[in-house]
Amino acid sequence: MTPFNAFSFNTVPRLVCESGAAAKLGQLVRENFQGIRHALIVTDPGFLKTGQVDPAVASLKANHIQVSIFSDVVADPPEAVVLKAVADARAAKIDIVIGLGGGSSMDVAKLIAVLAGSDQELKTMYGIGNVKGGRLPLIQIPTTAGTGSEVTPISIVTTGATTKMGVVSPTLYADLAVLDAALTVGLPPKVTAATGIDAMVHAIEAYTTRLKKNPLSDMLARQALELLGGNIVEACENGSNLAARQAMLLGSMLAGQSFANAPCAAVHALAYPVGGIFHVPHGLSNSLVLPHVLRFNAPEAMSLYAELAEIVCPGVGGSAEAKCQGLIAHMEGLAKRLGIETLLREVGIAESDLDRLADDAMLQTRLLSNNPRVVSRDNARAIYAAAL
Ligand SMILES: NC(=O)c1ccc[n+]([C@@H]2O[C@H](COP(=O)([O-])OP(=O)(O)OC[C@H]3O[C@@H](n4cnc5c(N)ncnc54)[C@H](O)[C@@H]3O)[C@@H](O)[C@H]2O)c1
Ligand SMILES: [Fe+2]
Repeated sequence: MTPFNAFSFNTVPRLVCESGAAAKLGQLVRENFQGIRHALIVTDPGFLKTGQVDPAVASLKANHIQVSIFSDVVADPPEAVVLKAVADARAAKIDIVIGLGGGSSMDVAKLIAVLAGSDQELKTMYGIGNVKGGRLPLIQIPTTAGTGSEVTPISIVTTGATTKMGVVSPTLYADLAVLDAALTVGLPPKVTAATGIDAMVHAIEAYTTRLKKNPLSDMLARQALELLGGNIVEACENGSNLAARQAMLLGSMLAGQSFANAPCAAVHALAYPVGGIFHVPHGLSNSLVLPHVLRFNAPEAMSLYAELAEIVCPGVGGSAEAKCQGLIAHMEGLAKRLGIETLLREVGIAESDLDRLADDAMLQTRLLSNNPRVVSRDNARAIYAAAL
């Protein structure tokens, strides 16, 4: 048996994985919480427009729960959006927070649940383990299969104009996560592709994380990649395939459980400045730098990448190096096949931006410390240059 280091593992206490579950939200609240009277649903204008918030609202009301909706979440949510939502939540005296949307909505929901009943200021919460006190009851219902935020103790906020910062605390684990594929059938193919690749990156980075890799996170990452790798093309090309959609949601949740315990690394560290400065969606930012970070990491992570190649591109043979190259080529080919951008210049980034990107990436010490290979500022710049 392979020896492994001591580890601890955390996740949310309850999961419901069922297509159509969001339309039974009132019942789920009644079964899992006591005395709830006023729920706040946290979402964004794009998802609200799909009309899919309505059945959840109707179900809450049918169970005698008053409902308020905060729908001003924007991608890569800035602090101001969080603070506005907290003020609304306090004024309405809500007693449960329900994130119903992509990672942006779920991340805002986490902070509302923490801040609504607390005197602590948001700016003192950034980093690991800085949240004091408790939070309101919290349910997370993802409508993208990507971030895994429904099962992570992380909320990512844009501070100042462009910097993305994380609040990481066990307090942010939801009480209940609901995986309802019916909510995701209308997700456009390009968003399905980019968010799906984000989830694959979570699994890849968790599997190769330097400090907290453990047998459970490994098992989850492997299973996640099998589900995500096996269904992403079908989910993009035939969005109404409910089975593929449910597999993607399950895969992204498993990847979330994995990286919540075995944290992400340089792909995310280099993706954050791309998202923060140029407003490139999170999944796409990851996809753009992914092959180049994998190539950079290969000398230190080759055997682990080779293990993942066997899952993601079955049939790949030969040496560990050949399998590792197979994984990188597969991920590059996947982005092309799914029709998302593959070069930084295609999202408006120029050579003259690379120094700023490299400087900003080096601020992501929380993530870089997990990378299998040390990343210098020059390395980061070279990776961006290769991705240009
Ligand atoms: N907390 C974590 O652990 C974690 C992990 C990774 C990323 N993140 C953060 O999550 C955010 C990205 O989340 P995301 O990629 O899910 O995107 P998102 O939440 O920003 O949503 C992207 C777009 O998709 C639309 N959309 C969402 N669901 C839809 C549906 N079912 N049908 C039609 N349209 C739909 C939204 O309206 C929005 O325009 C970033 O801020 C990122 O930093 C957090
Ligand atoms: Fe991510």
